[in-house]
Amino acid sequence: MNTTAPVGIDAISVYCPHYYIDLKTLAAHRDFDADACYNGLGQEKMAVPPPGEDVVTMAANAAAQALEGMDRSGIGTVIFATESGIDQSKAGGIFVHGLLGLSPNCRVFEIKQACYGATAGLQMALPAVAADPDTSVLIVATDIARYGLGTAGEKTQGAGAIAMVVSANPRLVTIDCQSGFYTEDAMDFWRPNYRDEALVDGKASIRLYLKSLAACWKHYTAQTGRVFTDFDRFCYHLPFTRMAETAHARLAGKSTSKAIVAKQIENSLWYNRIMGNSYTASMYVALTCLLDHPDEELEGCALGLFSYGSGCMAEFFSGTVNRGYRSHLKTSIHSQMLSRRVELSYDEYEIFYTYALPTDGSDHDVPVYETGRFRLVASRGHRRIYGAVE
Ligand code: CAA
Repeated sequence: MNTTAPVGIDAISVYCPHYYIDLKTLAAHRDFDADACYNGLGQEKMAVPPPGEDVVTMAANAAAQALEGMDRSGIGTVIFATESGIDQSKAGGIFVHGLLGLSPNCRVFEIKQACYGATAGLQMALPAVAADPDTSVLIVATDIARYGLGTAGEKTQGAGAIAMVVSANPRLVTIDCQSGFYTEDAMDFWRPNYRDEALVDGKASIRLYLKSLAACWKHYTAQTGRVFTDFDRFCYHLPFTRMAETAHARLAGKSTSKAIVAKQIENSLWYNRIMGNSYTASMYVALTCLLDHPDEELEGCALGLFSYGSGCMAEFFSGTVNRGYRSHLKTSIHSQMLSRRVELSYDEYEIFYTYALPTDGSDHDVPVYETGRFRLVASRGHRRIYGAVE
C-alpha cells in the first residue's frame, strides 16, 4: 500500500442549466434597483432550471463532462452532495451511477450539510484514496437555490452542479491533509422537509459566514503555522460574489494592499456572477472558474479554500495547483455552455419556477426543454424516470 502519493482533484467540471434570468429583468418586477444586484451583491444573472432538469440531471451532466476521456472503471465511490434532495430515502447518486453506466462494485451515497456537503465528501475521499491509491472517488455537488418569488433571497437564487474526480497523483490540484473547521448550532438558513424553498435570516447568515471564516482560519493557522502571505489565490463559498470580497478583505486585514486582495479572488468570481448560488457546488464553481481563467498561469500556486454551510459547519483548507493542469481542464465545454444560454422573460421565469411534478403518483410526461445529455423524462407511480437526450 502506498500512503505517500499526493491526493487531490484529478478532473473537475461545471454544469449550468441552459436558461437564466437577468437580475435587471427581475428588478423591473420587484421593489429593488438592478444596481443593488449588479454592484451591491455582485450578481448579474441567475440560472433557472427548466422542467426536466433537477439535481440528478445536473449532476449526471457535470459528471459526464468531468469523466470525458477518462477510464471510469477506477471509480470505486460516488458521493452525491446536495441540499435539494429529490428523495428522503434513495441517494440521488444512484440515479447518476446508473445514467453514467459505472461499475456495480461501487459505493454510492448522498450527504447533506447545507452548502458544505461537497467539502465533507472531499474530506472523506482524501484519506480513502490515500489508503488505496488505485481507486478514485467521484464527487458530485448539485443544487437549486430557491427562496421564493418576491422574497429578499430571490435575487440570490441560481442553480448548477460540479463533478470532480479525487485520485492519487492528481492532474489538477493536490489537496493538503490539514484543515481548520468550525461548527455552531444556528438557524441562519434552513429548509424544513415540508417546504420546497429555504428560509433564511439574511443578515444573521452573513454574520455567521464571517464568524465561521475567522474561526476556521484560527484553527487552520494554529495547526499549520501558515500565514496569509503563504497563499497566492483564494476561493470562497459564493452565495453572491460580494460576500467573498467582504470576507476576503476581512481575512486579509489592513496590511495587504487593496489591489492585491482583490487580485487574490477576482478570477474566481465570474461563473458564479452569471449562474447565481449553486449551494454545495458554489465554491467548486469558483475553483473551476479560477483554473479556467485564460489570463493566469497557476502552476505551483498555493490556494486557500473556504467552504461554508449554514446551520452551520465551515472549513478552511488548502491545496497547490499542479504542473500541466491546464491541458486537463474542461474550459472550452464551460465557455460554450455558458455562452449558448437562453435568456428568459419574467413570465417564462415564473412558469419554470412554479413547475412541479404531480404529488399523487399520476403518470406525467415532463415537457421537453433544452438540457444537457440527460433529462428527467417522466414521473410514473411516484417514480422519477431519467433518460439520455436523443
Ligand atoms: N457584503 C456583505 N454583506 C452584505 C452585502 C455585501 N456586499 N450586501 C448586503 N449585505 C448584508 C448586510 O448585512 C446588509 O445589512 P445592512 O443593510 O445593515 O448593511 C444586509 O445584507 C441586507 O442588505 P440589503 O437590505 O441591501 O439586502 P437585501 O434585502 O437585498 O438582501 C441578502 C440581501 C441578505 C443577501 C438576501 O438576498 C438573502 O437573504 N439571501 C440569502 C441568504 C444568503 O445568501 N446569505 C449569505 C450567507 S449564508 C451562505 O453563504 C449559505 C448560502 O449559500 C445560503
